[in-house]
Amino acid sequence: MQFMLNQTQIQLDECAPDTTLLEYLRTHLVQRGTKEGCASGDCGACTVVLAEPAGEGLSYRAINSCITYLGAVDGCQVITVEGLSSQPEHLHPVQQAMVDQHASQCGFCTPGFVMSLFALTHQPHEPRSTTAIEQIHQALGGNLCRCTGYRPIIDAAKSLLSAPLTDAFDEQEQEVHHQLSDWATTDDSSVTLKDGESSVFASPRSSAALLDCLARYPQARLVAGGTDLALETTQQLRSLPQLIYTGRVAEMRQICEQPEALVIGAAVTYSEAESILAAIFPALAGLIHRLGSLQVRNQGTLGGNIANASPIGDMPPVLLALDAQLRIRDAGGVIDMPIHEFFTGYRQTRLPPGGFIEALILPRLQSDSFLRIYKISKRLDDDISAVCLAMHLQLDQDRIVTARLGFGGMAATPARAYQAEAALLGQPFTPEGVRAAQAALATDFTPLSDVRASAEYRLRSASNLLLRAALEYQGQTSLEVSHHAHAG
Ligand SMILES: Cc1cc2nc3c(=O)[nH]c(=O)nc-3n(C[C@H](O)[C@H](O)[C@H](O)COP(=O)(O)OP(=O)(O)OC[C@H]3O[C@@H](n4cnc5c(N)ncnc54)[C@H](O)[C@@H]3O)c2cc1C
Ligand code: FES
Ligand code: FES
Repeated sequence: MQFMLNQTQIQLDECAPDTTLLEYLRTHLVQRGTKEGCASGDCGACTVVLAEPAGEGLSYRAINSCITYLGAVDGCQVITVEGLSSQPEHLHPVQQAMVDQHASQCGFCTPGFVMSLFALTHQPHEPRSTTAIEQIHQALGGNLCRCTGYRPIIDAAKSLLSAPLTDAFDEQEQEVHHQLSDWATTDDSSVTLKDGESSVFASPRSSAALLDCLARYPQARLVAGGTDLALETTQQLRSLPQLIYTGRVAEMRQICEQPEALVIGAAVTYSEAESILAAIFPALAGLIHRLGSLQVRNQGTLGGNIANASPIGDMPPVLLALDAQLRIRDAGGVIDMPIHEFFTGYRQTRLPPGGFIEALILPRLQSDSFLRIYKISKRLDDDISAVCLAMHLQLDQDRIVTARLGFGGMAATPARAYQAEAALLGQPFTPEGVRAAQAALATDFTPLSDVRASAEYRLRSASNLLLRAALEYQGQTSLEVSHHAHAG
């Protein structure tokens, strides 16, 4: 594999496939500016920036290097805190802003904040707008600081966004673009790293090549963003000698807008899918902003969220409510499987051996559709759901004619609430009309008590969410009525 570390080209073939980027930087290269805090994607101390060709220029995204496998940065530029300034007396503008605003005390978190701010300054932004403030909060949501407090760090971010900023990276952008594009066209080998004969990190470029890899290495684990799988390496200290990376598989990286559906490749990240998902399913925009942190959304994929079959994943309830399908490919061909058939038990699925999810097929909403998505978690940012509800109804003159309720956190798998759905049919969409469905949830689910919530809390909040949806619908229709009355 080859990549650029700041302005230096690195080429290597032999390395354990489950080496993380952070381990490579700190242990192999002895570059310890990038810190290790949690090693699980939660604190942001290990944040680095990946640059990749996008059109004529480069796109920059902050990632957690602790949960990124080294092989996944093949062909990219990795920018670390050591690369920002070559002379200690000339700080990069981002570092200078942190100094000017007294935004660092113990300093352990600071390299991570600096890299998140560096990525932010390389995104399109409108200075001093409300969207810029929201962008700052999103950019810093995955970085924890225990001593300085966020106000001075946010002040540093505001000062950076208040005026146009160019740096050495902008000046070198064309040269780097040329180099990375050159690698992309000349390197089509599947095996990126190896360690002896049987340890490999493979990066197939097509679905057919991925099937070949799966047949050749039947014990291999698939990895997309790694935001789930890499925790097996860093938290459970498991050795994963064979990894097959989906991030270069062309068919899995596409987004295709069809008249009836949106088809999203399983290896598309949340950040890449966000704008199209929000445009077609506006109710999803708020959920995506609350899914992990920006670093996690820059890496994590929709396919990984379905395949890991976590009962508290955020996308499965939405896909259940939309009646989405999964395009599954194996050596026998391709099938489109309704998502409600996919989950069979705790972290168990119908994925065939040697197969993979190629894409997700999300049917578009009808004009009479009502879609609401609620995530209940202890913190607003970067927290896992205790309960998640996606409610999708079709209404005829305020009466419910179809209902699909996708829940997370209520059972061993993400699941539909079939009894509650049945109780909604034919009812007016009012607090009265959802009462029987609220009661029916207790027959649909026997949730667990765990660190996130008690069983009782889960049932009570699930029931309250149905009521909330009805109240919001009433508010929405009464607003529409008063708007029409005014217009009339
Ligand atoms: C700090 C942090 C916060 C998080 N917050 C949230 C949150 O708020 N909500 C939430 O839902 N999740 C959250 N997660 C979990 C995780 O980020 C998501 O589940 C993410 O979507 C996983 O995608 P990935 O591409 O990183 O998966 P990976 O880790 O690459 O893979 C996950 C599993 O899926 C398999 N797999 C991946 N792609 C495919 C495929 N195409 N076909 C078949 N199998 C496949 C892999 O073999 C692996 O077993 C968080 C994680 C972290 C570290
Ligand atoms: S070390 Fe905490 S997110 Fe990587
Ligand atoms: S300055 Fe100490 S953790 Fe942020």
